[in-house]
Amino acid sequence: MACKTIDQIDVASKRVLMRVDFNVPLDDEGNVTDNRRIGQSMPSIQSVLDRKGRLILMSHLGRPEGNGYEQAYSLKPAVDRLRELLPDVKITFVEKDCVGEEAKKAVESIKDGEIVILDNLRFHEEERKGDAGFAAKLASYGDIYCNEAFGTSHREDASMFAVPKAMEGKPRVAGLLLRKELRYLSETISNAERPFVAVLGGVKVSDKLGAIRSLLDRVDSILVGGAMAYTFIKALGHEVGSSLVQLGMLKQAEQIIEEAAERETKLFLPVDHVCGKQISKQTPVKVFKESIEAGWMGLDIGPETVNQFTEQIGRARTIVWNGPMGVYETEPFDVGTHRIAESIVTATERGATSVVGGGDSAAAVDHFRMVDRFSHVSTGGGASLQMLEGKRFATVDLLDQS
Ligand code: 3PG
Repeated sequence: MACKTIDQIDVASKRVLMRVDFNVPLDDEGNVTDNRRIGQSMPSIQSVLDRKGRLILMSHLGRPEGNGYEQAYSLKPAVDRLRELLPDVKITFVEKDCVGEEAKKAVESIKDGEIVILDNLRFHEEERKGDAGFAAKLASYGDIYCNEAFGTSHREDASMFAVPKAMEGKPRVAGLLLRKELRYLSETISNAERPFVAVLGGVKVSDKLGAIRSLLDRVDSILVGGAMAYTFIKALGHEVGSSLVQLGMLKQAEQIIEEAAERETKLFLPVDHVCGKQISKQTPVKVFKESIEAGWMGLDIGPETVNQFTEQIGRARTIVWNGPMGVYETEPFDVGTHRIAESIVTATERGATSVVGGGDSAAAVDHFRMVDRFSHVSTGGGASLQMLEGKRFATVDLLDQS
Protein backbone atom coordinates (compact mmCIF):
# COMPACT_ATOMS: atom_id res chain seq x y z
CA MET A 1 0.00 0.00 0.00
CA ALA A 2 1.19 3.49 -0.78
CA CYS A 3 -0.19 6.94 -0.01
CA LYS A 4 -2.74 8.29 -2.45
CA THR A 5 -1.22 11.24 -4.32
CA ILE A 6 -2.56 14.62 -5.34
CA ASP A 7 -2.73 13.68 -9.04
CA GLN A 8 -5.09 10.79 -8.22
CA ILE A 9 -7.96 12.94 -6.94
CA ASP A 10 -10.31 15.45 -8.49
CA VAL A 11 -9.29 19.00 -7.55
CA ALA A 12 -11.35 21.12 -9.98
CA SER A 13 -12.79 24.18 -8.17
CA LYS A 14 -11.71 22.65 -4.84
CA ARG A 15 -9.56 24.35 -2.22
CA VAL A 16 -6.37 22.31 -1.84
CA LEU A 17 -4.56 23.11 1.41
CA MET A 18 -0.99 22.06 0.63
CA ARG A 19 1.69 21.95 3.34
CA VAL A 20 5.00 22.55 1.55
CA ASP A 21 8.51 22.80 3.01
CA PHE A 22 9.72 26.17 1.78
CA ASN A 23 12.23 26.31 4.65
CA VAL A 24 14.95 27.38 2.22
CA PRO A 25 18.40 28.84 2.98
CA LEU A 26 18.67 32.63 2.56
CA ASP A 27 21.73 34.87 2.15
CA ASP A 28 22.29 38.13 4.08
CA GLU A 29 20.16 40.07 1.59
CA GLY A 30 17.30 37.59 2.00
CA ASN A 31 17.75 35.85 -1.37
CA VAL A 32 17.04 32.12 -1.64
CA THR A 33 20.41 30.36 -2.11
CA ASP A 34 19.08 26.85 -2.80
CA ASN A 35 15.80 26.54 -4.69
CA ARG A 36 15.55 22.77 -4.66
CA ARG A 37 12.71 22.52 -2.16
CA ILE A 38 10.61 24.98 -4.15
CA GLY A 39 11.53 23.50 -7.54
CA GLN A 40 10.80 19.95 -6.42
CA SER A 41 7.31 20.90 -5.23
CA MET A 42 6.40 22.31 -8.64
CA PRO A 43 4.97 19.10 -10.16
CA SER A 44 2.36 18.95 -7.36
CA ILE A 45 1.64 22.68 -7.57
CA GLN A 46 1.33 22.52 -11.36
CA SER A 47 -0.88 19.45 -11.17
CA VAL A 48 -3.44 21.37 -9.05
CA LEU A 49 -3.29 24.53 -11.17
CA ASP A 50 -3.57 22.66 -14.50
CA ARG A 51 -6.74 20.96 -13.29
CA LYS A 52 -8.26 24.26 -12.09
CA GLY A 53 -7.87 23.61 -8.41
CA ARG A 54 -7.57 26.48 -5.91
CA LEU A 55 -4.24 26.16 -4.16
CA ILE A 56 -3.53 27.37 -0.62
CA LEU A 57 0.13 26.93 0.28
CA MET A 58 1.46 26.96 3.84
CA SER A 59 4.98 26.46 5.22
CA HIS A 60 7.41 27.37 7.96
CA LEU A 61 10.77 29.03 7.44
CA GLY A 62 13.50 28.82 10.08
CA ARG A 63 12.78 28.98 13.77
CA PRO A 64 11.22 32.33 14.69
CA GLU A 65 10.24 33.03 18.32
CA GLY A 66 6.56 32.26 17.76
CA ASN A 67 5.38 35.62 19.13
CA GLY A 68 4.27 37.13 15.83
CA TYR A 69 5.81 38.47 12.63
CA GLU A 70 9.60 38.70 12.24
CA GLN A 71 10.74 40.07 8.90
CA ALA A 72 13.88 37.85 8.76
CA TYR A 73 11.63 34.78 8.72
CA SER A 74 8.99 35.97 6.28
CA LEU A 75 8.20 33.62 3.40
CA LYS A 76 8.44 36.60 1.01
CA PRO A 77 11.74 35.42 -0.62
CA ALA A 78 10.16 32.03 -1.37
CA VAL A 79 7.05 33.77 -2.73
CA ASP A 80 9.25 35.90 -5.05
CA ARG A 81 10.85 32.71 -6.34
CA LEU A 82 7.44 31.09 -6.88
CA ARG A 83 6.28 34.15 -8.83
CA GLU A 84 9.35 33.83 -11.10
CA LEU A 85 8.46 30.18 -11.74
CA LEU A 86 4.76 30.90 -12.36
CA PRO A 87 4.64 34.34 -14.05
CA ASP A 88 1.12 33.83 -15.42
CA VAL A 89 -0.53 32.64 -12.22
CA LYS A 90 -2.26 34.96 -9.78
CA ILE A 91 -0.44 34.49 -6.45
CA THR A 92 -1.78 36.31 -3.39
CA PHE A 93 0.68 36.46 -0.50
CA VAL A 94 -0.87 36.96 2.93
CA GLU A 95 2.17 38.75 4.36
CA LYS A 96 2.64 38.64 8.15
CA ASP A 97 -0.12 36.18 8.90
CA CYS A 98 -1.77 32.85 8.25
CA VAL A 99 -4.93 32.65 10.41
CA GLY A 100 -6.15 36.27 10.68
CA GLU A 101 -8.89 38.18 8.85
CA GLU A 102 -6.73 38.85 5.80
CA ALA A 103 -5.88 35.17 5.38
CA LYS A 104 -9.55 34.23 5.70
CA LYS A 105 -10.58 36.83 3.10
CA ALA A 106 -7.87 35.71 0.64
CA VAL A 107 -8.91 32.08 0.98
CA GLU A 108 -12.61 32.93 0.55
CA SER A 109 -12.03 34.90 -2.64
CA ILE A 110 -9.54 32.52 -4.33
CA LYS A 111 -10.56 31.43 -7.85
CA ASP A 112 -9.83 28.33 -9.94
CA GLY A 113 -6.17 28.09 -10.98
CA GLU A 114 -4.99 30.67 -8.42
CA ILE A 115 -2.65 30.44 -5.44
CA VAL A 116 -2.89 31.95 -1.96
CA ILE A 117 0.25 31.59 0.10
CA LEU A 118 0.16 32.13 3.85
CA ASP A 119 3.11 33.62 5.74
CA ASN A 120 5.34 31.59 8.08
CA LEU A 121 3.20 29.27 10.23
CA ARG A 122 5.79 29.46 13.02
CA PHE A 123 4.99 33.15 13.69
CA HIS A 124 2.41 31.46 15.92
CA GLU A 125 3.80 29.31 18.73
CA GLU A 126 0.72 27.12 18.32
CA GLU A 127 2.26 25.64 15.17
CA ARG A 128 5.17 23.97 17.01
CA LYS A 129 2.85 22.97 19.82
CA GLY A 130 0.44 21.19 17.50
CA ASP A 131 -2.40 23.30 18.92
CA ALA A 132 -5.87 22.03 17.96
CA GLY A 133 -7.56 25.48 17.86
CA PHE A 134 -4.91 26.89 15.52
CA ALA A 135 -5.13 23.72 13.41
CA ALA A 136 -8.93 24.01 13.16
CA LYS A 137 -8.61 27.52 11.64
CA LEU A 138 -6.14 26.28 9.01
CA ALA A 139 -8.18 23.13 8.37
CA SER A 140 -11.26 25.25 7.63
CA TYR A 141 -9.45 26.64 4.54
CA GLY A 142 -9.31 23.33 2.66
CA ASP A 143 -11.56 20.80 0.94
CA ILE A 144 -8.48 18.63 0.42
CA TYR A 145 -5.28 18.33 2.48
CA CYS A 146 -1.97 17.60 0.75
CA ASN A 147 1.32 16.87 2.53
CA GLU A 148 4.11 17.98 0.20
CA ALA A 149 6.56 18.75 3.02
CA PHE A 150 8.78 15.69 3.28
CA GLY A 151 11.48 17.78 5.00
CA THR A 152 9.13 18.45 7.92
CA SER A 153 7.41 15.06 8.03
CA HIS A 154 9.32 14.02 11.17
CA ARG A 155 7.75 16.98 13.05
CA GLU A 156 4.26 16.77 14.47
CA ASP A 157 3.67 20.50 14.07
CA ALA A 158 0.03 21.59 13.79
CA SER A 159 0.09 21.92 10.00
CA MET A 160 1.67 18.49 9.66
CA PHE A 161 -0.52 16.48 12.03
CA ALA A 162 -3.36 18.33 13.79
CA VAL A 163 -4.56 19.95 10.55
CA PRO A 164 -4.99 16.70 8.59
CA LYS A 165 -6.41 15.12 11.74
CA ALA A 166 -9.03 17.91 11.87
CA MET A 167 -9.81 17.27 8.20
CA GLU A 168 -10.77 13.61 8.74
CA GLY A 169 -13.47 12.64 6.23
CA LYS A 170 -11.97 14.88 3.53
CA PRO A 171 -9.28 13.65 1.10
CA ARG A 172 -5.82 13.75 2.72
CA VAL A 173 -3.14 12.92 0.18
CA ALA A 174 0.60 12.99 -0.45
CA GLY A 175 2.31 15.38 -2.81
CA LEU A 176 4.41 13.92 -5.62
CA LEU A 177 7.69 14.89 -3.94
CA LEU A 178 6.66 13.28 -0.65
CA ARG A 179 5.75 10.13 -2.56
CA LYS A 180 9.11 10.12 -4.36
CA GLU A 181 11.03 10.64 -1.11
CA LEU A 182 9.19 7.74 0.55
CA ARG A 183 9.79 5.54 -2.46
CA TYR A 184 13.55 6.08 -2.35
CA LEU A 185 14.20 6.45 1.37
CA SER A 186 11.91 3.72 2.55
CA GLU A 187 10.86 1.28 -0.19
CA THR A 188 14.14 1.20 -2.19
CA ILE A 189 16.12 0.67 0.97
CA SER A 190 13.83 -2.03 2.33
CA ASN A 191 13.93 -4.02 -0.94
CA ALA A 192 17.43 -3.05 -2.03
CA GLU A 193 19.14 -4.85 -4.85
CA ARG A 194 22.46 -6.24 -3.58
CA PRO A 195 25.27 -5.54 -3.06
CA PHE A 196 23.92 -2.70 -0.94
CA VAL A 197 26.49 -0.17 0.28
CA ALA A 198 25.95 2.66 2.79
CA VAL A 199 28.38 5.59 2.85
CA LEU A 200 28.15 7.53 6.09
CA GLY A 201 30.06 10.65 7.09
CA GLY A 202 29.66 13.99 8.81
CA VAL A 203 30.90 15.27 12.11
CA LYS A 204 29.16 13.39 14.90
CA VAL A 205 28.72 9.66 15.47
CA SER A 206 25.87 10.50 17.84
CA ASP A 207 23.85 11.96 14.92
CA LYS A 208 24.28 8.82 12.83
CA LEU A 209 24.11 6.13 15.52
CA GLY A 210 20.46 5.20 14.81
CA ALA A 211 21.07 5.08 11.06
CA ILE A 212 24.19 2.92 11.42
CA ARG A 213 22.36 0.48 13.73
CA SER A 214 19.37 0.21 11.42
CA LEU A 215 21.55 -0.15 8.29
CA LEU A 216 23.79 -2.83 9.85
CA ASP A 217 21.01 -5.36 9.33
CA ARG A 218 20.26 -4.34 5.79
CA VAL A 219 23.49 -3.53 3.93
CA ASP A 220 26.50 -5.55 2.79
CA SER A 221 29.07 -2.84 3.62
CA ILE A 222 29.19 0.43 5.51
CA LEU A 223 31.89 2.92 4.56
CA VAL A 224 32.54 5.48 7.30
CA GLY A 225 34.29 8.78 6.58
CA GLY A 226 34.17 12.36 7.84
CA ALA A 227 35.13 13.47 11.34
CA MET A 228 32.89 10.79 12.87
CA ALA A 229 35.37 8.14 11.68
CA TYR A 230 37.88 9.37 14.28
CA THR A 231 35.67 8.26 17.16
CA PHE A 232 35.77 4.71 15.70
CA ILE A 233 39.51 4.87 15.01
CA LYS A 234 40.17 6.08 18.56
CA ALA A 235 37.94 3.28 19.90
CA LEU A 236 40.24 0.83 18.09
CA GLY A 237 43.16 2.27 20.05
CA HIS A 238 44.84 4.39 17.36
CA GLU A 239 46.22 7.90 17.88
CA VAL A 240 44.11 10.53 16.10
CA GLY A 241 46.09 13.72 16.90
CA SER A 242 43.76 16.67 17.36
CA SER A 243 41.00 15.22 15.13
CA LEU A 244 37.45 15.63 16.41
CA VAL A 245 36.47 12.76 18.69
CA GLN A 246 33.27 12.27 20.69
CA LEU A 247 34.80 10.81 23.83
CA GLY A 248 31.36 9.99 25.24
CA MET A 249 30.66 7.79 22.20
CA LEU A 250 33.72 5.53 22.29
CA LYS A 251 31.81 2.65 23.90
CA GLN A 252 29.01 2.82 21.34
CA ALA A 253 31.56 2.97 18.50
CA GLU A 254 33.22 -0.16 19.88
CA GLN A 255 29.82 -1.89 20.11
CA ILE A 256 29.02 -1.02 16.49
CA ILE A 257 32.33 -2.49 15.33
CA GLU A 258 31.46 -5.70 17.24
CA GLU A 259 27.88 -5.79 15.96
CA ALA A 260 29.10 -5.42 12.36
CA ALA A 261 31.52 -8.31 12.84
CA GLU A 262 28.74 -10.51 14.32
CA ARG A 263 26.49 -9.82 11.32
CA GLU A 264 29.24 -10.17 8.74
CA THR A 265 28.48 -6.64 7.55
CA LYS A 266 31.77 -5.17 6.35
CA LEU A 267 32.56 -1.93 8.18
CA PHE A 268 35.23 0.09 6.41
CA LEU A 269 37.07 2.87 8.25
CA PRO A 270 39.60 5.23 6.66
CA VAL A 271 43.09 3.73 6.36
CA ASP A 272 44.76 7.06 5.60
CA HIS A 273 43.94 10.65 6.38
CA VAL A 274 44.58 14.04 4.81
CA CYS A 275 45.44 16.21 7.81
CA GLY A 276 45.95 19.88 8.51
CA LYS A 277 46.84 21.96 11.54
CA GLN A 278 43.55 23.80 11.28
CA ILE A 279 40.59 24.12 8.90
CA SER A 280 42.01 26.59 6.41
CA LYS A 281 43.13 26.68 2.79
CA GLN A 282 46.54 27.93 3.94
CA THR A 283 47.27 25.24 6.55
CA PRO A 284 50.19 22.83 6.02
CA VAL A 285 48.91 19.45 4.79
CA LYS A 286 50.21 15.94 5.53
CA VAL A 287 48.84 12.47 4.82
CA PHE A 288 49.02 9.96 7.71
CA LYS A 289 48.33 6.22 7.67
CA GLU A 290 46.63 4.64 10.68
CA SER A 291 47.88 6.89 13.55
CA ILE A 292 47.83 10.67 13.30
CA GLU A 293 50.63 12.65 15.02
CA ALA A 294 49.86 15.14 17.78
CA GLY A 295 48.95 18.61 16.50
CA TRP A 296 47.45 17.30 13.22
CA MET A 297 43.77 16.99 12.52
CA GLY A 298 42.12 14.55 10.07
CA LEU A 299 40.13 16.70 7.61
CA ASP A 300 39.54 14.33 4.69
CA ILE A 301 39.88 10.67 3.76
CA GLY A 302 43.21 9.84 2.11
CA PRO A 303 43.89 8.41 -1.39
CA GLU A 304 44.09 4.76 -0.28
CA THR A 305 40.77 5.09 1.52
CA VAL A 306 39.25 6.66 -1.59
CA ASN A 307 40.42 3.62 -3.60
CA GLN A 308 38.97 1.15 -1.09
CA PHE A 309 35.66 3.00 -0.87
CA THR A 310 35.28 3.47 -4.63
CA GLU A 311 35.97 -0.23 -5.18
CA GLN A 312 33.04 -1.09 -2.89
CA ILE A 313 30.82 1.53 -4.53
CA GLY A 314 31.81 0.24 -7.98
CA ARG A 315 30.35 -3.18 -7.15
CA ALA A 316 27.14 -1.92 -5.55
CA ARG A 317 23.63 -2.15 -7.02
CA THR A 318 22.18 0.12 -4.32
CA ILE A 319 24.02 2.98 -2.59
CA VAL A 320 22.85 5.21 0.22
CA TRP A 321 25.00 8.19 1.11
CA ASN A 322 24.61 10.41 4.15
CA GLY A 323 27.31 12.84 5.28
CA PRO A 324 30.45 14.25 3.64
CA MET A 325 33.84 12.51 3.83
CA GLY A 326 35.72 15.62 4.90
CA VAL A 327 35.63 19.40 5.07
CA TYR A 328 34.45 19.63 1.46
CA GLU A 329 33.92 23.40 1.64
CA THR A 330 37.67 24.04 2.15
CA GLU A 331 40.30 23.03 -0.42
CA PRO A 332 42.27 20.75 -0.43
CA PHE A 333 39.98 18.80 1.95
CA ASP A 334 37.21 18.55 -0.65
CA VAL A 335 38.89 15.80 -2.69
CA GLY A 336 37.60 12.73 -0.79
CA THR A 337 33.96 13.85 -0.86
CA HIS A 338 34.25 14.81 -4.54
CA ARG A 339 35.80 11.45 -5.53
CA ILE A 340 33.14 9.52 -3.61
CA ALA A 341 30.40 11.61 -5.28
CA GLU A 342 31.94 10.88 -8.69
CA SER A 343 32.13 7.16 -8.03
CA ILE A 344 28.47 7.07 -6.94
CA VAL A 345 27.51 8.94 -10.12
CA THR A 346 29.48 6.42 -12.22
CA ALA A 347 27.72 3.54 -10.45
CA THR A 348 24.37 5.25 -11.10
CA GLU A 349 25.19 5.66 -14.79
CA ARG A 350 25.77 1.92 -15.10
CA GLY A 351 22.41 1.12 -13.49
CA ALA A 352 22.82 1.22 -9.70
CA THR A 353 20.25 3.06 -7.59
CA SER A 354 21.76 5.91 -5.56
CA VAL A 355 20.05 7.80 -2.77
CA VAL A 356 21.71 10.87 -1.26
CA GLY A 357 20.42 12.13 2.09
CA GLY A 358 19.48 15.78 2.47
CA GLY A 359 21.29 18.31 4.65
CA ASP A 360 25.11 18.24 4.38
CA SER A 361 25.32 15.56 1.70
CA ALA A 362 22.83 17.36 -0.54
CA ALA A 363 24.76 20.61 0.07
CA ALA A 364 28.00 18.82 -0.93
CA VAL A 365 26.65 17.47 -4.23
CA ASP A 366 25.13 20.88 -4.90
CA HIS A 367 28.58 22.43 -4.23
CA PHE A 368 30.07 20.07 -6.85
CA ARG A 369 27.13 20.80 -9.22
CA MET A 370 26.20 17.12 -9.40
CA VAL A 371 22.66 17.14 -7.94
CA ASP A 372 20.97 15.82 -11.09
CA ARG A 373 23.27 12.85 -11.51
CA PHE A 374 22.01 10.59 -8.68
CA SER A 375 18.82 8.53 -8.67
CA HIS A 376 17.53 10.72 -5.85
CA VAL A 377 18.85 13.55 -3.68
CA SER A 378 16.57 14.04 -0.73
CA THR A 379 15.11 17.43 0.22
CA GLY A 380 14.92 16.37 3.87
CA GLY A 381 17.73 16.74 6.41
CA GLY A 382 16.49 15.38 9.75
CA ALA A 383 13.60 13.64 7.99
CA SER A 384 15.82 11.66 5.62
CA LEU A 385 18.09 10.61 8.50
CA GLN A 386 15.10 9.41 10.54
CA MET A 387 13.86 7.42 7.53
CA LEU A 388 17.28 5.76 7.32
CA GLU A 389 16.87 4.91 11.00
CA GLY A 390 13.77 2.99 9.92
CA LYS A 391 11.31 5.30 11.73
CA ARG A 392 7.67 5.71 10.70
CA PHE A 393 6.10 9.16 10.59
CA ALA A 394 2.63 9.72 12.08
CA THR A 395 2.22 12.63 9.64
CA VAL A 396 2.48 10.20 6.74
CA ASP A 397 0.60 7.30 8.33
CA LEU A 398 -2.63 9.32 8.55
CA LEU A 399 -2.76 10.05 4.82
CA ASP A 400 -5.19 8.15 2.56
CA GLN A 401 -3.88 4.94 1.03
CA SER A 402 -4.37 4.03 -2.62
C1 3PG B 1 14.36 21.00 7.84
O1 3PG B 1 14.96 21.89 7.23
O2 3PG B 1 14.95 19.99 8.29
C2 3PG B 1 12.86 21.10 7.96
O3 3PG B 1 12.36 22.18 7.27
C3 3PG B 1 12.43 21.11 9.40
O4 3PG B 1 12.90 22.26 10.04
P1 3PG B 1 13.08 22.26 11.64
O5 3PG B 1 14.27 21.38 11.94
O6 3PG B 1 13.30 23.68 12.01
O7 3PG B 1 11.84 21.68 12.23
